[in-house]
Amino acid sequence: MRTLMTALLLSAGSLQAAPIAMEDQSQLTVPDGQAAAHFAPPAESDLPDNAFGEMVRQGHALFVDTRRLMPEAVGNGMNCSSCHLDQGRMAHSAPLWGAYPMYPAYRKKNDKVNTYAERIQGCFQFSMNGRPPAADSPQMTALSVYSYWLATGTRTAIETPGRGYPEVPQPAGGYDFARGQQVYREQCAICHGDQGEGQKVADDYVMPPLWGADSYNWGAGMHRINTAASFIKYNMPLGKPGSLSDQQAWDVAAWINRHERPQDPRLVEGSIEKTRLKFHANDGVNLYGQKVEGVVLGQGTGR
Ligand code: HEC
Ligand code: HEC
Repeated sequence: MRTLMTALLLSAGSLQAAPIAMEDQSQLTVPDGQAAAHFAPPAESDLPDNAFGEMVRQGHALFVDTRRLMPEAVGNGMNCSSCHLDQGRMAHSAPLWGAYPMYPAYRKKNDKVNTYAERIQGCFQFSMNGRPPAADSPQMTALSVYSYWLATGTRTAIETPGRGYPEVPQPAGGYDFARGQQVYREQCAICHGDQGEGQKVADDYVMPPLWGADSYNWGAGMHRINTAASFIKYNMPLGKPGSLSDQQAWDVAAWINRHERPQDPRLVEGSIEKTRLKFHANDGVNLYGQKVEGVVLGQGTGR
């Protein structure tokens, strides 16, 4: 596994990325030209056998097995590690070691300075379509301690290369649903299902869904086509990061995000249009409240 991950990091690291202003977290990204120089978080075997080590192990368990261990907080088929690959360790997959040292930070999304716990609560509310645990809950402490440990040796308030997802610029010709559908059929459906429904074994997801009631909701960062394209280009197909062209990444991201998913929990007065104006009009490239083939998207899936 180590060797595979190292190979993946090397191939992903050779792609170039552009920097953005630090206070704009709508699209996390980091300048990164040094191929193999990614930060290496500590190994599990380095963990001390004491109360701190125990807390790290608990945080790790919650991160990779979130749905099963925190059913009250998760409203879909995701674990944190569904989008933060290799247990939150992988560069260009919004690794926890890239995140932890960068908080507290201002976020446009909720227009305030967010603590690290508040940042995680955001992923519970939107990406996990759930109910965030309290900032002082044992689970939140464990998730924070796990992140803190992974970040051992990084510098606070200085971006570590490999943080976030590198930005994939929108191709000059935009994106195309039909081409995206074709990429999906050829390279994604085998794992994520013909209808983006994922795959279950004995009622438990072994491959996460990409749309529908068990996916991330309309308020999640991944609902932006630009963010999904970045994640996809650097992380998918699983085991072959960097193999899609920018165009293919945008096309397939658009295809995924033109499907229904759970409603944005910030829904304004029951109105898709009001919600679009308030939260989606200036939030990257997204289809919430847009008419596609005669149907307004953002209806939600009833959960
Ligand atoms: C559906 C995919 C998805 C899931 C599931 C998910 N996240 Fe995220 N997470 C993202 C995206 C996308 C971003 C980047 C946000 C952006 O660009 O706005 C992010 C950002 C973050 C950040 C900040 C990264 C940084 O560098 O500032 C942290 C911390 C984080 N997530 C933790 C979690 C935790 C903990 C969980 C589980 C409770 C979780 N995420 C579940 C997609 C996901
Ligand atoms: C070999 C199986 C496989 C293939 C092929 C594959 N994926 Fe994935 N994908 C996964 C797994 C597994 C995860 C969750 C990560 C984990 O658990 O390690 C994932 C996670 C994701 C996620 C974030 C989590 C979610 O459910 O929203 C997206 C988006 C995604 N894949 C898109 C794609 C796209 C687009 C393609 C095709 C270009 C693709 N995947 C091809 C296995 C695959």
